[in-house]
Amino acid sequence: MKNKIEQIRNEFIEQLAQAKDNEALRELELKYLSRKGEFSEIMHGLKDVNLDLRKELGELANSVKLEMQAKFEEARQTMESYGKKSEFVDVTLPGEKLANGHLNPITLVQNELEDLFTSLGFIIGDGPELESDYYNFTALNVPPLHPARDMQDTFYIDSKNKEGQYDLVMRTQTSPVQIRMMQKYGAPLKAVIPGRCFRNEATDARHEHTFYQFEGIMVGRDINFSNLKSFLEIVGKRLFGPSTELRMRPKFYPFVEPGNNGEYTCFLCRGKGCRVCKHTGWLEIVGAGLIHPDVLRAGGIDPDVYSGFAFGFGLTRLAMLKYSINDIRLFNTGDIKFLEQF
Ligand code: FA5
Repeated sequence: MKNKIEQIRNEFIEQLAQAKDNEALRELELKYLSRKGEFSEIMHGLKDVNLDLRKELGELANSVKLEMQAKFEEARQTMESYGKKSEFVDVTLPGEKLANGHLNPITLVQNELEDLFTSLGFIIGDGPELESDYYNFTALNVPPLHPARDMQDTFYIDSKNKEGQYDLVMRTQTSPVQIRMMQKYGAPLKAVIPGRCFRNEATDARHEHTFYQFEGIMVGRDINFSNLKSFLEIVGKRLFGPSTELRMRPKFYPFVEPGNNGEYTCFLCRGKGCRVCKHTGWLEIVGAGLIHPDVLRAGGIDPDVYSGFAFGFGLTRLAMLKYSINDIRLFNTGDIKFLEQF
């Protein structure tokens, strides 16, 4: 009987500690402390034991019951005070401040360029990041096995197209969208194409495997090199200030002829020479040129009637220059401390 009393006490204390709400408390009270509860049964059982033992057990049972009642009362009061706390609302307290999101620096520069070009009558184009080998290379005058393929290594996808060939690649440039836009809209055409590109690169502070470009294309009658130059000058002044100058130097790109590299006056030293421009006073920012006749043909446009120019900015690099970001890899870390600075 002594053991039974101890057992009931221990069970009760254990279950009381786990009781989460008033409902649970009521159940415990009913099970252990009510007139029909387990303790009353013990008390009834005392009448069958001899007098000495009944006295001893009676005293024990009474003190344990008092202890249980006290603990129960304590638990009930604690529960009541919690309930009161959670129901209390101080309507005079200031509201919680929600953190405002903001745009990524690449998006900020992209928006600025899109605003500029749409104000000049350009439309904005879009194309797939998972591209066919044909659009990414062949249609841009880089046939299979041509040495120019070595200029841009990419990630090939391990699945076949409808013709059973492995020809899906992560696009290395936004230039394939030139072809898609020409096929869709024909000539005349003025379009810009921002987008994410991928290259199998040894990464460093200026090279990432995943980065953004901003492509532009203008096709019409008598479009010439001066038109290209003036558009690139407008972009430079808009991004880096009115005193920014442009210089163009020849560079080979298979999809343009002639091709060139556009360089702007270094925004940091204003042309005097510094660490950012490697002491040349100029920053290489854009690849450009007059669209190759084969590329116009691939886009379904007759090169004997129309001509055009195309350019491709490294959008991520532009954001680095504009916001003095010294390592391109920071963009892909997802580090909030980095992103919160813009
Ligand atoms: C091209 O990708 C051409 N499609 C650009 C072009 C378009 C030329 C139209 C002519 C006419 P290029 O490989 O140079 O060219 O890359 C263009 C820009 O993308 C570079 O100047 C650079 O700013 C950026 N870029 C290239 N590779 C990386 C990389 N791994 N990480 C970050 N930026 C890169």
